Amino acid sequence: MVELTLPKNSRVGTGKTHSKPDGATNTKTFNVYRWSPDDTENPRIDTYYVNLDDCGPMILDGLIKIKNEIDPTLTFRRSCREGICGSCAMNINGTNTLACTKGMDEVNGDINIYPLPHQPVVKDLVPDLTNFYAQYASIKPWMQTQTPPPPDRERLQSKEDREKLDGLYECILCACCSTSCPSYWWNSDRFLGPAILLQAYRWLADSRDENTGERLDNLEDPFRLYRCHTIMNCANTCPKGLNPAKAIAEIKKMMVERRG
Ligand code: SF4
Ligand code: SF4
Ligand code: FES
Repeated sequence: MVELTLPKNSRVGTGKTHSKPDGATNTKTFNVYRWSPDDTENPRIDTYYVNLDDCGPMILDGLIKIKNEIDPTLTFRRSCREGICGSCAMNINGTNTLACTKGMDEVNGDINIYPLPHQPVVKDLVPDLTNFYAQYASIKPWMQTQTPPPPDRERLQSKEDREKLDGLYECILCACCSTSCPSYWWNSDRFLGPAILLQAYRWLADSRDENTGERLDNLEDPFRLYRCHTIMNCANTCPKGLNPAKAIAEIKKMMVERRG
């Protein structure tokens, strides 16, 4: 029978409002999604006030301050704090982005933070990206060759061939694009999604790689590649300004061209 009510733990309740820091007059309000696998509670939104006169400018700075000074149980991922590692991807006021490169002053009013959407949650703002990484491994993201390497140097690439990787190599695998893609929400078990397809194209476009045929065979499938319906959320959300939809279109073009 069709279930017409939401599963119990998908309802998000009101949580705890923490008090304002003593003497703070210039604060920003953070409303943050909380959920722990260690109890039977439903998810909730906790509210924190961050003293802007005593905090770095980025949303990640605010979260670190909350964790250090207000609530050590708040859980999120971060590493580089400069837009390189991709760990701090989360949904901020409705958009998937990196907390470390998004300024608090870019958000008018309260800052509302949820984990990346449509992924299982490990805890609080930490999504379970096991499937995402398994899909990444499935495209064999390394150079594959059949010919022996030159005896005295690396495999070289012309300047023009190297430029073909621009707009691809910068991807930090943050998953902001894939988790904003409606096709990926509904078919993430079979559709590879924009991030992994951009990575797949990064190797198809590399003049040094010699396994193009097998790579295309691996993508020639009604779901793995062709579930992209060019909705463009991916390009609109990428915090690195990349365009996965364009990379997907290039793969589809290669498929047509090889059919001749
Ligand atoms: S394409 Fe952009 S949004 Fe997608 S994983 Fe790479 S860096 Fe993140
Ligand atoms: S263009 Fe394709 S991959 Fe990008 S959001 Fe739309 S359906 Fe998803
Ligand atoms: S902490 Fe590395 S990208 Fe934000």
